[in-house]
Amino acid sequence: MGRFLLGLIIGICLVAGGAFIYFTTGMAPVAATAQPMPFERLLAKKALHAKLQADAPKTVPLQPTTQNLLAGAMVYSHNCAFCHGMPQAAPSVEGSGMFPHAPQLFTQRDMVTDDPPGVTYWKVKNGIRLTGMPSFQKALTDQQIWQVSLLLREADKLPPEVTAALVPTPAPAAAPAKPAPEPKHR
Ligand code: HEC
Repeated sequence: MGRFLLGLIIGICLVAGGAFIYFTTGMAPVAATAQPMPFERLLAKKALHAKLQADAPKTVPLQPTTQNLLAGAMVYSHNCAFCHGMPQAAPSVEGSGMFPHAPQLFTQRDMVTDDPPGVTYWKVKNGIRLTGMPSFQKALTDQQIWQVSLLLREADKLPPEVTAALVPTPAPAAAPAKPAPEPKHR
């Protein structure tokens, strides 16, 4: 028994020491562009999944009416498109510079149309820790969070007027490089 305990303690110390060296000598990835740590993806996925199972609301208080989807499109254009892209536009460059990448929620590959709206609602409300996904609890009302969650649920079958509302807003006109010339006085 004594030997076993000693072995256990030495084992724990070795693992803790190894982790300490890994994190304090610059071996652990810290750049957004770096490769994931061993098991990082798996553990992060499992932790999120377990939390969502327990916490995501199961009932949806709103219907996906055109009016709610249009409101969701407004919320999306102003708060989400910067990272998650727009249906008829090139993918967000900023979103692809993050670790993990921001999924492009209007592409076939990344759509969340299979997720229950309650799951999307939870992610938008609470954000996803240690990723670029912010919590919108303070920025949006509960109703707005449901509206944008329904929009993403219906992303592959939106009424045309809702798709039409999802167009990138033009970038603000570039500031003139030089101050405008003074009007000539004569
Ligand atoms: C600053 C960038 C940024 C903004 C703004 C942002 N997100 Fe995210 N979002 C991310 C990143 C990065 C992830 C990936 C997180 C991960 O892989 O776990 C993500 C993940 C998600 C997911 C999960 C996707 C999946 O495949 O499970 C949903 C849903 C989502 N965001 C919705 C939204 C909505 C809706 C908004 C606007 C209200 C928004 N996001 C705004 C960066 C952003």
